[in-house]
Amino acid sequence: MANKALTCLILGSWLWLFSGLPIQENTAPKVKIHVPNNNNSISWNRVVPYRITVSDLEDGSSAYDEIAMNEVILTIKYVPDATKANDFLATEAKKNWDTLSWMGRNACFTCHRAKDKLIGPSFSEIAKRYSERPDSVLFLVQKIMNGGKGNWGEQIMPAQPHLQPEQVEGVIKWILRNGKAEDLNYFSGLEGAFRTRAKPADGAKNGLYVLQAHYLDHGLKGNSPDGKLGSDSLFLRLD
Ligand code: HEC
Repeated sequence: MANKALTCLILGSWLWLFSGLPIQENTAPKVKIHVPNNNNSISWNRVVPYRITVSDLEDGSSAYDEIAMNEVILTIKYVPDATKANDFLATEAKKNWDTLSWMGRNACFTCHRAKDKLIGPSFSEIAKRYSERPDSVLFLVQKIMNGGKGNWGEQIMPAQPHLQPEQVEGVIKWILRNGKAEDLNYFSGLEGAFRTRAKPADGAKNGLYVLQAHYLDHGLKGNSPDGKLGSDSLFLRLD
């Protein structure tokens, strides 16, 4: 009898314990940007190398090649007035995250860069050519879905019929809107370099570069519905 009571008591306390446990949740990744000496100031017209590390409880760590590097995005924005840098981070920067993560996941950056030609034309060149054309969005959605060549050279963009047209449309609009912005650059990958701008003629003393890296993880079961974003940002003053 005493034994039974004891078993009930032990079982009961286990049940009570488990009911209080939180449901397992996806953890957000940790992202960090590294620049030489982690210094806070850089020179005009210089090449600045960078490296990004990512670690995530579910996806793994960039130190062990477990993070898809195409999906690690760095945006670099020159802000002429340093007092506006925090505003940029809090509002504007976040608007770019979804689109850039989507492009990273869908391999756009294996062939395209923001400002330089790779296998395909740069997104800036594309924006320059198409932003005034009335049918550009429809035309480019078709082109991305069906693939093709000849508009920029002999290299082929393969058909990508698995993409959702509505999502492609959103991305095209983003490219046309942001592609021409001289002061916004973006890269995918875990390392690279960028060149700072030449010193403006007015000697602008107050400008700075805002670097921001982000990575959207793959959720608990490796697919994204509960994906969480991790980010890091860094201000680099010019002198
Ligand atoms: C395997 C390489 C490759 C991949 C991956 C790729 N592209 Fe392209 N893309 C190209 C090439 C090459 C061209 C130039 C085609 C031409 O000359 O007509 C191009 C052209 C374009 C154009 C301009 C089309 C035109 O006719 O002017 C846009 C917009 C574009 N790509 C967006 C994307 C997006 C968005 C993605 C990701 C979903 C993507 N590309 C993935 C290689 C690629």
